[in-house]
Amino acid sequence: MTSKAWWKESVVYQIYPQSFQDSNGDGIGDLQGIISRLPYLEKLGVDVLWLNPIYQSPLVDNGYDIADYYQINPQYGTLVDFQELLQQAHEHHLKIIMDLVVNHTSDQHRWFQESKKSRQNPYSDYYIWRDPQADGSAPNNWGSTFTDSAWEYVPARQQYYLHLFAKEQPDLNWENPQVRQEIYQMMRYWFDLGIDGFRMDVITLLSKKQDFPDAPADLPRHKNYYYGSSNGPREHEFLQEMYREVFAYYDVLTVGEAANTNSDQALLYTDPQRHELNMLFQFDHMHLDYGKYGKFSEVRFKLSDLRQVMTEWQQKLVQGWNSLYWSNHDQPRPTTRFGAEGKFRVVSAKMLGTLLHLMQGTPYIYQGEELGLKNVPFVSLNAYQDIETKQMIQELRAVGESETKIKKICYLKSRDNARTPFPWNNSKNAGFSQGTPWIPVSPDYPQMNAQQALADPDSVFYYYQKLIALRKKYSVVIDGRYENINSQDSEVYGFMRTNSQEQLIVICSFSQDPVNYSLPAEFTGSKLLLANYSSMPASLEKQIELPPYAALVYYRKLKN
Ligand code: GLC
Ligand code: CA
Repeated sequence: MTSKAWWKESVVYQIYPQSFQDSNGDGIGDLQGIISRLPYLEKLGVDVLWLNPIYQSPLVDNGYDIADYYQINPQYGTLVDFQELLQQAHEHHLKIIMDLVVNHTSDQHRWFQESKKSRQNPYSDYYIWRDPQADGSAPNNWGSTFTDSAWEYVPARQQYYLHLFAKEQPDLNWENPQVRQEIYQMMRYWFDLGIDGFRMDVITLLSKKQDFPDAPADLPRHKNYYYGSSNGPREHEFLQEMYREVFAYYDVLTVGEAANTNSDQALLYTDPQRHELNMLFQFDHMHLDYGKYGKFSEVRFKLSDLRQVMTEWQQKLVQGWNSLYWSNHDQPRPTTRFGAEGKFRVVSAKMLGTLLHLMQGTPYIYQGEELGLKNVPFVSLNAYQDIETKQMIQELRAVGESETKIKKICYLKSRDNARTPFPWNNSKNAGFSQGTPWIPVSPDYPQMNAQQALADPDSVFYYYQKLIALRKKYSVVIDGRYENINSQDSEVYGFMRTNSQEQLIVICSFSQDPVNYSLPAEFTGSKLLLANYSSMPASLEKQIELPPYAALVYYRKLKN
């Protein structure tokens, strides 16, 4: 039996504030811009907005480097603007969750500025400092996501500090109880202001193995730190303490970003009886098209792998809860990655939405996904702004990859694809800004924008609206058991959701050609709820001709 909670019945919409809507012509999205677009979001029917970090930050990693947890970055507005956003969002029946980045801070944070001065000061133990090895080298071989070594030397302390991301993002020392209390206090501050939850950045990295062991030499350098930092020895203890100290007092949504975490571990984080988190962002489906340089590859996923991964998570987290996503600010656009560009872009976007939204869990829509946006052709490699992309371009050049190949890989995988301005209409700068946008607008905007979608009853937007409405109407979307149909089919992903009363049958084709699909006899006569093509049979038959990228949803009541 699935227990009830508002966040299980919700659909979350992710806003990248920097690129959503600029209200004052400085080329940067802001809080007043978001406020002006609340009616659009309410129309789509989503329930919760997740904002990427908007705190004071030097923006080395676009806000994931926080210099002051209590201040809003002035480029987005003021605390008063934020309170207005909260209030107005609530009036539009939209909850707001913020990003919680507490594995690390910015090196500009007051704590770090003090900590780096000496070994004896009130903040000296707020970060992870270690002595050099006898030959002066870094304490161990861990690499960081954005640099070679995860350690940076500071002469004033004659010590290295740990940074699993950029060197401007020092890792906090969660072993220090004072650090933990500071964080809990800050979390209470935002909850008391009225926010409805947190998306918790790289939350499974908090607890490091305290002997800081070298990672085995054969692990890829970029993320070998996972070896000593992911799902570490005190991770669950810290989260349970956080729950007792903070979450227990508020009815909020918590979703933890959990790279390098398998479904067994995920169950520990999300089992409600353990009082840790509501759900996680898992990465197994994001890894299906990794290649020899990790994420930056041209590999195309295989449907059999996708089915296997999704099924595993659907079936494992029955006692816990899943979050469902195709993309976010770190990932490319799903139509390019899992669906199609060109003439099947719109149908494939609808098909992908169907597959995801009708699984069990809380769906997340990244801004623009409801328009079926595709990846963005940047005019040159110099136009990319993202720290991860820039780093990869350098590394790929260093190993001798051709410019053409690097361009192709960046087109397929750069985080900047999703970070380009939201296309509102076909006027200048896609209606995003009167000034010069901080990052180029996609050249696709005249053909792909919100205004056009709102004027077209067959748009991806209205299809998403219907998907969201299905969740509200049929409880089987929330509480139904998940099982595959024709689990060996190499082109069509079929599954059913069943509770004691009713059943949904979901059929999604990943083929660009028509497919003749057979179904078990028991489904015959089920009635059509939704499809991405008109003229699909109103009542399900044993054999069905599926057009390219078809998505069909059938429904039947079960006899008790
Ligand atoms: C998460 C964020 C990503 C950021 C990283 C470091 O993966 O989603 O954007 O770069 O953490 O905070
Ligand atoms: Ca602005």
